Amino acid sequence: MTTEAIIDVRGLTKRFGDLVAVNDVSFAVQRGEVFAFLGPNGSGKSTTIRMLCGILEPTSGEGRVLGFDIAREGEQVKEHIGYMSQRFALYEDLTVRENLEFYAGVYQVPGSERKTRLVELIDMAGLRGRERQLAGQLSGGWKQRLALGCAIVHQPPLLFLDEPTAGVDPVSRRRFWTMIYGLARTGVTVFVTTHYLDEAEHATRVAMIHGGVLRALASPAELKRGALQGHLLSLVCDTPMQAVALLERAPGVREVALYGTTIHALIDPAQQTAEGLSAWLGDVGITVHGATRIEPTLEDVFISLIGAP
Ligand SMILES: Nc1ncnc2c1ncn2[C@@H]1O[C@H](COP(=O)(O)OP(=O)(O)OP(=O)(O)O)[C@@H](O)[C@H]1O
Ligand SMILES: [Mg+2]
Repeated sequence: MTTEAIIDVRGLTKRFGDLVAVNDVSFAVQRGEVFAFLGPNGSGKSTTIRMLCGILEPTSGEGRVLGFDIAREGEQVKEHIGYMSQRFALYEDLTVRENLEFYAGVYQVPGSERKTRLVELIDMAGLRGRERQLAGQLSGGWKQRLALGCAIVHQPPLLFLDEPTAGVDPVSRRRFWTMIYGLARTGVTVFVTTHYLDEAEHATRVAMIHGGVLRALASPAELKRGALQGHLLSLVCDTPMQAVALLERAPGVREVALYGTTIHALIDPAQQTAEGLSAWLGDVGITVHGATRIEPTLEDVFISLIGAP
């Protein structure tokens, strides 16, 4: 591993009785990355984060975060990172400002810097004018931005976010991510779990975990390139349902799926082409309006790795 690895884990394992929640996971995160951690419910994401944050002791394996040993130096890890847990709770009966002041106290932000820091965070979260509002009265998106502000009040170089945008509307999600990328530009490393694949598209690298096992780890572009065995075509034609049924027995076609009125066909490039398939459909009586090769989305990759629900 290079010296720039800010997180470096090998063989990380957590058992709860007979259940292996995290199974022999190894990876490294470099300084400055926005690292997305994906996986279905119960796959071990939060358990991994809690071990990385020095909150939960691994059953076996080892890891260093910011140079500290996660098993032996958990306290130092906790002091130096920012962590927004999956159920991060603001104090609902405190105002926006009071919540930030509380966390500034917890993280021992020096009194002389506190005022400036709070102003910075209120501006960053777009909460100016709402300083005196009770946190409990904020809508979901505002709450998450305030929670992020609380998690970074001590300017940590590394931030763990466990499903920070769950249940938040698309515009608020976008705003939240603008904050994340703003932080990343200042050199903060971000480790984030999410179920929104559009969010993972912009990460520097994506890890996919399933049943506690790390199944893939690469940049979004690499994952998409390597994921599917063949070329993916998007086909627009009359009577798409009938076309799908016919395509299932067309030469060189591996998989067919209907997305609305568009057909996705995975073809073996050694046996089939977009033109060839259009011609074949024409011969069996289907009018084709368009056949183009498309890149798979991260959703295609995720489904193919994890299996359809
Ligand atoms: N303290 C615990 N005791 C026993 N089992 C646990 C404990 N914490 C987690 N588990 C189990 O470990 C597995 C992984 O849980 P984890 O919370 O890490 O999943 P997750 O990927 O974060 O899921 P989600 O997307 O629902 O948040 C689950 O089967 C869960 O029930
Ligand atoms: Mg979780």
